[in-house]
Amino acid sequence: MLLEKAVVLSNKQIRPDYWQLGLYAPQIAAQAQPGQFMMVTAADSFDPFLKRPMGINIIDPKSGFIRIIYLVLGRGTKLLTNLRENMEIDLLGPLGNCWKIEKDCRRALIMGGGSGVATLLPLARELFYRRVQVDVILGARSKDYLSCADEFAGYGSVIYATIDGSAGYKGLATDIFPGDIRYDMVYACGPMKMMENVVHLSREHHIRCQVSLEENMGCGYGVCMGCICSVRQADGQIVYKRICKDGPVFYGEEVFW
Ligand SMILES: Cc1cc2nc3c(=O)[nH]c(=O)nc-3n(C[C@H](O)[C@H](O)[C@H](O)COP(=O)(O)OP(=O)(O)OC[C@H]3O[C@@H](n4cnc5c(N)ncnc54)[C@H](O)[C@@H]3O)c2cc1C
Ligand code: FES
Repeated sequence: MLLEKAVVLSNKQIRPDYWQLGLYAPQIAAQAQPGQFMMVTAADSFDPFLKRPMGINIIDPKSGFIRIIYLVLGRGTKLLTNLRENMEIDLLGPLGNCWKIEKDCRRALIMGGGSGVATLLPLARELFYRRVQVDVILGARSKDYLSCADEFAGYGSVIYATIDGSAGYKGLATDIFPGDIRYDMVYACGPMKMMENVVHLSREHHIRCQVSLEENMGCGYGVCMGCICSVRQADGQIVYKRICKDGPVFYGEEVFW
């Protein structure tokens, strides 16, 4: 875990409520793995006091470039939109665990919803380079909110589900879960309800899955206990885990809803 002062290379709005932040952060870029996240502060100040967790959307260790795609929700993310080229921001990272790619994985399904889509892009890239066949289902409220769709298309087949039907299937991404295909792994990130549905669907179709969970975080590195979830151990016992330190990626069979 590093505390790095990153330089803003670009910060622009790409969709309604979605912004893309390009950063020069060579130390974090050299260590980060797909699925890990960072704690980010918008300004060189104590306001807001708590950094905000953000997944990493592009990791380029050679150039030191990393990219975040963020949904503007509250105070912290609104302040991020004020960042301009050459400003500096504090990053704490890389944090948490990463997506696991098992040796015998030949075909994988990636399911992303809302702002959870961003952290799945480096995974799609890694799977592609490891010659795993990748299918992607992206869910959003409408066509305008589908982020990274073109980039995912470079790594596999992509289909969409939008609530208003403006792109692809009209409805939820989980409505079109392809249970008839023998995937070796399903990887998912999105709203908690979507993650719960992905776990149930994967179980129903006897496919293993990994989900990245999002929770409000205080510290981001395991000390404040502000991000607890319930996990079922192999012996059936339910224990508490920290999403920031023990996650954010969990196997579907572990998470106790
Ligand atoms: C691992 C992980 C990866 C994520 N990746 C992404 C991503 O790639 N893109 C994206 O758009 N979003 C991502 N998120 C979600 C993102 O972190 C939230 O949307 C963001 O924190 C919202 O911050 P805000 O200040 O805009 O909203 P707010 O609602 O103002 O604050 C959000 C949260 O900050 C904390 N907080 C604020 N004030 C206090 C306080 N006084 N005391 C305690 N807690 C406080 C709370 O947890 C609060 O609910 C991720 C979340 C996690 C956990
Ligand atoms: S955010 Fe502090 S323990 Fe997870």
